[in-house]
Amino acid sequence: MAERYVMSIDQGTTSTRCILFDHHGRLVSVTQREHKQHFPRPGWVEHDAVEIWRNLERIGPEALAQAGIGPGEVAAVGIANQRETTVLWDRRTGLPVTPAVVWQDTRTDTLVDELSRRPDAHVVRERCGLPLATYFSAPTIRWLLDHTPGLRERAERGEVLFGTMESWLIWNLTGGPDGGVHVTDVTNASRTLLMDLRALAWDDTLLDFFGVPRAMLPEIRPSSETYGVARRVVPGVRIAAALGDQQAALFGQTCFHRGEAKCTYGTGAFLLLNTGDEPVSSTHGLLTTVGYQIGDQPAVYALEGSIAITGALVQWFRDRLGIISTAPEIETLARTVEDNGGCYIVPAFSGLFAPHWRSEARGIIVGLTSYITKGHLARAVLEATGWQTREVVDAMNADAGIALTTLKVDGGMTADNLLMQFVADVLDVPVVRPMVAETVSLGAAYAAGLAVGYWPDLEGLRSNWHRAAQWLPSMDAGRREEEYDNWRRAVERTFDWIKP
Ligand code: G3P
Repeated sequence: MAERYVMSIDQGTTSTRCILFDHHGRLVSVTQREHKQHFPRPGWVEHDAVEIWRNLERIGPEALAQAGIGPGEVAAVGIANQRETTVLWDRRTGLPVTPAVVWQDTRTDTLVDELSRRPDAHVVRERCGLPLATYFSAPTIRWLLDHTPGLRERAERGEVLFGTMESWLIWNLTGGPDGGVHVTDVTNASRTLLMDLRALAWDDTLLDFFGVPRAMLPEIRPSSETYGVARRVVPGVRIAAALGDQQAALFGQTCFHRGEAKCTYGTGAFLLLNTGDEPVSSTHGLLTTVGYQIGDQPAVYALEGSIAITGALVQWFRDRLGIISTAPEIETLARTVEDNGGCYIVPAFSGLFAPHWRSEARGIIVGLTSYITKGHLARAVLEATGWQTREVVDAMNADAGIALTTLKVDGGMTADNLLMQFVADVLDVPVVRPMVAETVSLGAAYAAGLAVGYWPDLEGLRSNWHRAAQWLPSMDAGRREEEYDNWRRAVERTFDWIKP
């Protein structure tokens, strides 16, 4: 039977999706299942890794059934995943030993603060390219080992394993306690605070710094390579790629050349710029991260601007304030007015990520007068995403020394024309969206397909990229700079709200 499709699994923060792609990068079938978000205390966010695995056990076969095929017609599986979220499980029983701690969780803020004060704290950014923040996995692992009786000893003996979601899924797909393969890829490993960015290997100094035992860590592998053969969900199919979801979107947008960038707009927004085979260290609050590594070729690096809250602000406007009842209504409401009426919202709900990295910041609304209507607030909600993108692009241009000339976008919020026009206006560059908006899934599929020869090379993949929409900048330069100045003044005011 000819292998007609590649399967992509996108294990995201709110749901897991399974998509089959054909040779042209077209979607053949799509299945999806949401999982529960657990908020046991303020600032804590947890997932149940077993629920996520069970969801995959369901949607994988459903995707095959939708296409009317069996696993024999699938050339390979690629996985993209929410990054940093930490799963610890028992090697023998295959069961998690704690809830999965999500990247948005801030329980480690005190620990991170203590670690930042250590005289040797500078080694962290030097070796792994990331600032010390609650966002990444290492402080979470340390916290769980410190707060769960007996866990450290078991981890030291190699009885308890660590992985981010791709690791957990690959281990389960390849047999679980019965011979499961314990691996991660370079992009996911580059988000732990434990990997040497140049050597692409776990770093003993960082392991010591965080107190994480090496015995619990997966083997680091390239992003595009056969890791093993599935024994569950798609028996007999090669698992041939894993990438963090944002890196997968960079790949799916075919940003293969130095200087190419994409921004994915979802719960948060993540702008990644391909910087080629040299890591560029940031002096403007960006992350240095691995973009991808194909087989034994040199790794390709990226600079990343991570914005924690974009779509989540629209959700808040809908679910907490109840001003709209569906997310797309925000555009209609914003169009009832000409401008923001002088109102700005800075959504520092759990601090600010790039380029500020201020965990103590809290959100604000400024410029309220009796003139302000729901429409102005809706505009301010959308504009917050535009201005946060501008801050990250400014940092990117300063760090990379290459000015961005066009921005490729994807993700749910790109359906909002008003927002996309605003992004083009405040960046003063064209914004383009591809035909296949599922770039995260597509990127994982491309990486898997390349590993098994389903697609021959990178350049061939570029011909699958077709522009579906474009927004050209049209804002007057004077107005742009004046409003950006207002935004920056608003951001300043979020920093000192919490009393020291
Ligand atoms: O770093 C977090 C990011 O990978 C989450 O992406 O789309 O799953 O919310 P998403």
